[in-house]
Amino acid sequence: MEYKSLLVTYNDGICTITINREKALNALNRTVFAELRYFFEEEGPQNKDLKGVVITGAGSKAFAAGADIKEFMDLDEAKAKSLSQNGHEVFFLIERFHKPVIAAVNGFALGGGCELAMACHMRIAGAKARFGQPEVNLGICPGYGGTQRLVQLVGKGKALELLLTADMIKADEAHRLGLANHVVEPGEEVAKATEILAKIASKAPLAVAKTVDCVNAYFDKHADGYDVEASTFGVLANSYDFKEGSAAFIEKRAANFKGE
Ligand code: CAA
Repeated sequence: MEYKSLLVTYNDGICTITINREKALNALNRTVFAELRYFFEEEGPQNKDLKGVVITGAGSKAFAAGADIKEFMDLDEAKAKSLSQNGHEVFFLIERFHKPVIAAVNGFALGGGCELAMACHMRIAGAKARFGQPEVNLGICPGYGGTQRLVQLVGKGKALELLLTADMIKADEAHRLGLANHVVEPGEEVAKATEILAKIASKAPLAVAKTVDCVNAYFDKHADGYDVEASTFGVLANSYDFKEGSAAFIEKRAANFKGE
């Protein structure tokens, strides 16, 4: 696919996806969603050398300032519901992706932008990042999972405060609440995310992928997370990588994982 609203680059197996709509503060329009869907459904899974993904925003002002409000003008009830469902599907692809995905939040992460960051496995905030769910200012509620993932990350009381007041919080506060994993100097967000991805790339790939599934099972109302964990533990115990990893430990050498 020829990307129009994303910049997709690779360096040593780590893919950086930059939402490339700087003039619109990287607002998430239909094209961004279609291209994210393509990456996480097609390009990413097909790339056997992929180690992890960083998502960031072009420029220094915004990660993403939300859903593209200019596309809201012709919405009726059915279209809005379908827009929200499409957002859910794409963000589930990210949340369930088998390689780690880290949001490098370089500025405003508002509304759909905050929801995109929350769908990633971790968030690195630049010191100038701002997080918020300002949808009630527009007479709407979050539509891309914000009412669910914000509760998961910061707890119900604080989530409701942020959702109902539309307050924007700074990077330090996001870190204190558990919304941001780390705060770094502005401009260092992608480097920090890349450093974490490189560390994860040295671990057993199958174990990493299955651990993501187990953690997601905690939030799946139809799954018993402990059951998923026990089955996964069994599957992994049967893997080449487990035999290799445990042999390498005993033999005091580095493991040579195959992802099998
Ligand atoms: N959608 C479309 N365009 C947007 C946008 C958005 N979410 N956010 C900013 N822009 C555009 C502005 O319209 C402006 O474009 P023009 O130059 O063509 O007028 C440009 O980006 C720069 O924005 P501002 O002039 O407003 O910049 P600022 O520095 O004065 O303010 C801001 C920055 C506080 C982030 C402000 O732009 C803002 O409040 N943006 C909207 C944030 C928002 O409400 N997000 C939630 C969207 S709804 C949603 O996401 C629902 C959902 O969950 C599905």
